[in-house]
Amino acid sequence: MKVEKVPVAVLVSGRGTNLQALIDACDQPDYPARIVKVISNVPDVAALDRAAAAGIPTVVVSHKHRSRDDFERALVAELEGVSWVALAGFMRLLTNTFLSAFPGRVLNIHPSLLPAFPGTHAVAQALSAGVTQAGCTVHFVDAGLDSGPILCQGSCAVHEDDNEDRLAERILKLEHALYPMALRWAVEGRVFVEGGVARAVIREGEKRWWVETD
Ligand code: GAR
Repeated sequence: MKVEKVPVAVLVSGRGTNLQALIDACDQPDYPARIVKVISNVPDVAALDRAAAAGIPTVVVSHKHRSRDDFERALVAELEGVSWVALAGFMRLLTNTFLSAFPGRVLNIHPSLLPAFPGTHAVAQALSAGVTQAGCTVHFVDAGLDSGPILCQGSCAVHEDDNEDRLAERILKLEHALYPMALRWAVEGRVFVEGGVARAVIREGEKRWWVETD
């Protein structure tokens, strides 16, 4: 059966491994989204090369030397015809100027079990806090710092000998599994927010809470 693919844009700032996971998912004929544009706020990042290699139009919209408002208006201007926006390592906060153009239709992935450890260096924050479980979260974006309603999470144990790189690598594997799944739910109209809490209509075999057991 041919699926109707929903147009999605991905916003990036860096290496783009989550973007790659989304590109690979969208390449599947039965995956219900297609990436129509990749926007980076930073020039010359690997994410732009990944998008170009996949034949996806790219654009750099720099946040430098302009107001936040002006930056966000420029982003919105690039996103005509886009239904959902996925932030994938996009390292800028967004305000209502952007969010009001995509109400309830912006997702983000973050490498911690939110609401713990928002912001930068989430994995280092988790290690410093001495937690025994770490992980990642896909959430709706609001104007706060990694603070919108939580859609799904994946967790893994923190090993005795973990350093930031090793733990980040295991979390990243979870990210790459979770984000395409969450975006599928989103574009299929199976997620919504009720009283500030995200809900998802999940099917057999799907889950909102993943546990990596090694
Ligand atoms: C990912 O770990 C993502 O969760 C994180 O940045 C990394 C980007 O990697 N995002 C945040 O910290 C957002 N607050 P990638 O460019 O290889 O996808």
